[in-house]
Amino acid sequence: MSVKNKQLKIIGISGSPRGRNTNYMLQTVLDASGCYYEIILLKDKKIKPCAACGGCYKSHKCVVNDDMQELYEKLPKADIIILASPTFFANVTGIMKNFIDRCLPLYLSEKLKGKKAVLLTVGNFRKDEVRYLDNFDIEKAMKNPASRRKLGESIRRCLNIMKIFCQKHMKMKVIGSVYVINGDPESKKKELIKLGRIIANK
Ligand SMILES: Cc1cc2nc3c(=O)[nH]c(=O)nc-3n(C[C@H](O)[C@H](O)[C@H](O)COP(=O)(O)O)c2cc1C
Repeated sequence: MSVKNKQLKIIGISGSPRGRNTNYMLQTVLDASGCYYEIILLKDKKIKPCAACGGCYKSHKCVVNDDMQELYEKLPKADIIILASPTFFANVTGIMKNFIDRCLPLYLSEKLKGKKAVLLTVGNFRKDEVRYLDNFDIEKAMKNPASRRKLGESIRRCLNIMKIFCQKHMKMKVIGSVYVINGDPESKKKELIKLGRIIANK
């Protein structure tokens, strides 16, 4: 938690089970913002999958009694919500997806409508991790700018999934995003700090 002179309240949600690169990105943005913030580490929360019971369609409330209840209270009080997830098989992580699915009551009640969102993701295109996803020679691709772009495809897809959730479903305004494709978030430190400063001026 950090308190400086800004009035904005930011909630940063990390969907990283390991808590390494993703949390570095999140922390860098939050520190640069100088705003009051809270970090939610989904790996430490007990959030069950959405049971699709349909109860929230009427009540706009979720009957599942777990740590998501605390987030139903907190999220509508934030000005800015940062979603930070590693890319896992061209998608968000399982714990982030559980969180997203459990946001159905907030979608139905439109409680996050108009809030600002920031998106962060990181992937690592090392051969052992994405060989199965991208059917080409990674070393060769690195030498060619056009195919180098393809290396980050799974990561941009992950970013897009979070964007659709925030923008289309939750009706939030995405004010910035950063993605890292080489598993080295330090390489984007300047961009992350810049994003933090942009947030501070919102
Ligand atoms: C199950 C799994 C699937 C992954 N899928 C992708 C992927 O589709 N694209 C990619 O670039 N990296 C992929 N990665 C690499 C991770 O995104 C990368 O290691 C990231 O830094 C993990 O975040 P963390 O450092 O916060 O734990 C995958 C890793 C795991 C464990």
